Amino acid sequence: MAFGTSSQHGRYYDMLRTQVLQEMDKKSWQLLAVTSPTAGCGKTVTACNLALSISRLPERSVLLVDLDLRRPAVGNYLGINGNGGVLDVLEGRAPLSSAVQQVSIGPNNMLVLPGSVSSNSSEWMASQTMAAMLQTIKRDFRSRIVIFDLPPMLLGDDVISILPRTDAALLVAGVGSTTVSDIKECQRHLRRTAVLRVIVNKSTEAAGSYYGYY
Ligand SMILES: Nc1ncnc2c1ncn2[C@@H]1O[C@H](COP(=O)(O)OP(=O)(O)OP(=O)(O)O)[C@@H](O)[C@H]1O
Ligand SMILES: [Mg+2]
Repeated sequence: MAFGTSSQHGRYYDMLRTQVLQEMDKKSWQLLAVTSPTAGCGKTVTACNLALSISRLPERSVLLVDLDLRRPAVGNYLGINGNGGVLDVLEGRAPLSSAVQQVSIGPNNMLVLPGSVSSNSSEWMASQTMAAMLQTIKRDFRSRIVIFDLPPMLLGDDVISILPRTDAALLVAGVGSTTVSDIKECQRHLRRTAVLRVIVNKSTEAAGSYYGYY
């Protein structure tokens, strides 16, 4: 995780943040999906770092929602207790307001709705209960950018179900694991979705040092 303002890796997420916010602001969009073709490309790392980067802006705030009911990892990556979380809300055990956690990491503050594992991920993602939860999130956190960490696109129908309920998406490709045909297959599912960027993650090419950055 890159959470200091001087962090070497943080500046790439700041560049992504600024491009994403410019495009979302233009359209008054609020809900951003983060997905990838297959597993392990870096969706959760990207979603968490982007959320931290946005939360560094004094006039911006973020809600990060772990909607990967297969392999939730946001709680683990941010070092917070992810008991219950999304599934508690979906199954009616907790109201959204008590499932959402305030998280402070270094100088960053943001809200997080941690994930939980469900063997019915596909059914939950397509459900009216999920649609209602997303409506409530949209209404109750109107002033915040909401980032959804999702499962991979090509390993089930979870993402296809949820994309029409979001405003825009980021597609994270993993260098060495994502193929061109994976991306083409994703494009077919993304025809009606605004894909703000395709992120080439895990590149091993070193970027040169620049001004005060090293
Ligand atoms: N930019 C990066 N540089 C180095 N390691 C990375 C980077 N992005 C991700 N990783 C590593 O790759 C692994 C997978 O990352 P991550 O969990 O974010 O992927 P994911 O797409 O969310 O996976 P899953 O499909 O299981 O949800 C982790 O060990 C993570 O630390
Ligand atoms: Mg993940």
